[in-house]
Amino acid sequence: MTISNNRLLLYKNLEQIIGNTKLNSIKLPNNNRLLLKRECDNPFGSHYDKVYLGLFKYYENLGLINPERKVLETTSGTAGASFVGIGKELGYKCHVAIPKGVDRAIIDLIAINGEIYFTLEEDYINGFPRFLKDFLPRNKDFMFLNHSMGEKCGSAYTNNETTLSSLEGITKEVLETEIKIDFYIPAVGNGSTILGPGRLLKNLSPETKIIAFESFQSAVAYDQINPGKYKEEFGINPGTLPKHKLRGTSYQGIEFPHIKNSVNIKLIDEVILVSDKYIDKNYFELTKRKDTKSMPHWDTEIGSEFGRSTRAGIQAALEIAKKVDGKNLLVIAYDKADRYNDY
Ligand SMILES: Cc1ncc(COP(=O)(O)O)c(C=O)c1O
Repeated sequence: MTISNNRLLLYKNLEQIIGNTKLNSIKLPNNNRLLLKRECDNPFGSHYDKVYLGLFKYYENLGLINPERKVLETTSGTAGASFVGIGKELGYKCHVAIPKGVDRAIIDLIAINGEIYFTLEEDYINGFPRFLKDFLPRNKDFMFLNHSMGEKCGSAYTNNETTLSSLEGITKEVLETEIKIDFYIPAVGNGSTILGPGRLLKNLSPETKIIAFESFQSAVAYDQINPGKYKEEFGINPGTLPKHKLRGTSYQGIEFPHIKNSVNIKLIDEVILVSDKYIDKNYFELTKRKDTKSMPHWDTEIGSEFGRSTRAGIQAALEIAKKVDGKNLLVIAYDKADRYNDY
């Protein structure tokens, strides 16, 4: 099955407006440099524009989807905005499952071009497997794109290599500038921006260190890399505190293959845990301990143009910059602040 010339033209037009985002260079202490890859400038607001351009084209090429077939995604927000935005450009009717309670700002954006199904707020993203188990057998005319994982193989899910290769574009664009990347500092979300750009970066530039960051509240990758250490260090299990506010970053519950496989191939050199005032308060109330106070905090004025995960990435870079000299630190500007209801 091949895509018709008319459809190829549509894809070509999208390829011209997605990607090739700017790389801002900002001075950090100790002669270090922050390189901010502005994926937030993509037309539908994040790195997920690259992912959905890749996924729609891949599935259409296989003959699995066409604009007559309904398409479905699950999202905590950011992926949904790119899915419905690109889907609409390609003539698709997009359907989106999202937990209740996600910021109105992003839900409103998705609702313009997509039909929304709310899952339970208290389940957050862990409500998706149950939703899909109920929804898909009753709606066989839907195709679930599932950007965060591939096919099930035995009891585990495989990588979604289409998602990962689409995100390799980030590495290719950065390396085209011929700037040497000493540290790549991705968020731990579902693992895609660690494994996609990270794997290629380590292949092409093996001395690059990958230092991922995630909320102290969830600590999914931290716990997989150092089993038992979190409990020993902080006196509670990961996931004990109330839900964190770093939307799109890791959350205890679903086992995402892109995180697990990044850990398995030892791609991640270190994980930085990030806190905020809300986490400090909850952790102190529970344990009477102040360990989180000394962690990088995303809830400051720095980078206020950007969404929370980007601001957390900038803080993680500042933390690394305290200990090294003359290095280039790459952070993805995932999205902008206007997609959140508050700070
Ligand atoms: C705002 C935001 N930042 C960072 C991430 C992490 O991206 P990924 O899970 O694709 O690696 C996400 C993922 O949804 C996100 O929504």
